[in-house]
Amino acid sequence: MAENLSPVVPEALGFGRHFTDRMFTHSFTEENGWENPTIGPYHELTLDPAAAALHCGQMVFDGTKAYRRPDGDLNLFRVDRNVARLNSSAARMGMPAIDERLHTEAIETLVSLEHRWIPKIDNASLYIRPVVVATEPVLEVRASRSYLHYIIVSPVGPYFPDGFNPISVFVSHDNVRAVRGGTGEAKTPGNYAASIAVSEAAREKGCQQVLWLDAVERRYIDEVGAMNIAFVYGGNEIRTPPLSGAILHGVTRDSVLRLAPDLGFVMHETPMTIDDVWRDIENGEITEAFGMGTAAVIAPVGGLIYHDREATLNRGETGPVARRLYDELTRIQYGRAPDPYGWTTVVRVESDEHSSAIR
Ligand SMILES: Cc1ncc(COP(=O)(O)O)c(C=O)c1O
Repeated sequence: MAENLSPVVPEALGFGRHFTDRMFTHSFTEENGWENPTIGPYHELTLDPAAAALHCGQMVFDGTKAYRRPDGDLNLFRVDRNVARLNSSAARMGMPAIDERLHTEAIETLVSLEHRWIPKIDNASLYIRPVVVATEPVLEVRASRSYLHYIIVSPVGPYFPDGFNPISVFVSHDNVRAVRGGTGEAKTPGNYAASIAVSEAAREKGCQQVLWLDAVERRYIDEVGAMNIAFVYGGNEIRTPPLSGAILHGVTRDSVLRLAPDLGFVMHETPMTIDDVWRDIENGEITEAFGMGTAAVIAPVGGLIYHDREATLNRGETGPVARRLYDELTRIQYGRAPDPYGWTTVVRVESDEHSSAIR
């Protein structure tokens, strides 16, 4: 294997803790529209303390990854979906659309320049974080007239470095994350801010993630942390809640919906209440559960806490369906298997020497 040129040692990677040398920026004013797309040194932002994003939270973001292929080039995975989602989030927040082609090219150039940051270990990747932020200094509650669009990238290791580690989830019965007609379908910081206090309380109970119920009846299963969720019935049937308006349109979820039937699983989008799920865990019909998202790809759920009750799934171990989906999806993402779905785009990388010379 080639020399590891990443400035970050694999053990220190974590998730989203280190950022590369460069970033993309692009700005918008009402007069000129979007202009000055630039890749330059990673730098701090200067924002007016009255910037609209800092008060009204007019801001959106997204997340995708560039995966190192066996031939040293990179794969982007369904990046068109992420770009479209960034724009639909922006539309919900009253923000101007960005040019999807320009945004995708910016990602391709940035990851190609920064690829040496990906440590040469299995399942390492560059996490890509695009953000659009309202910059106009104005305290009035209305759409900002200026915006900054930027993209930063962060080398990340496998989400479970020591192999799958099933997560425990705390079912939130008092607090909700998103409401139909609200902003749950948008990737906007308010949704995540609303989850933080509950996530901290869950952590105190020994749970790594929160299972969110619908905001109206507080019965229907929505999502788990920043992941979509699925339950496996009888070892072969996978059920996931339909996109209700409060649930993020996950790219991983959509990929599982497409892939699972080809692997012989029966796949259903169906509303599920927490009471049904609890009963079906207790009577053994539910054999596994897992979260789906870009960061972990597939995160097996080993246990749940709801009020004062606890349930264990698959003896707290990773189930075969989660394992199979993880293996198949990551093979396609990392270019270790053919991609019959046309999900991946290859990005040729700058040579290591060239890449490290540009500073
Ligand atoms: C709330 C929420 N749900 C689900 C997901 C999973 O989406 P994806 O598979 O596109 O990463 C994410 C991650 O972006 C998220 O933030």
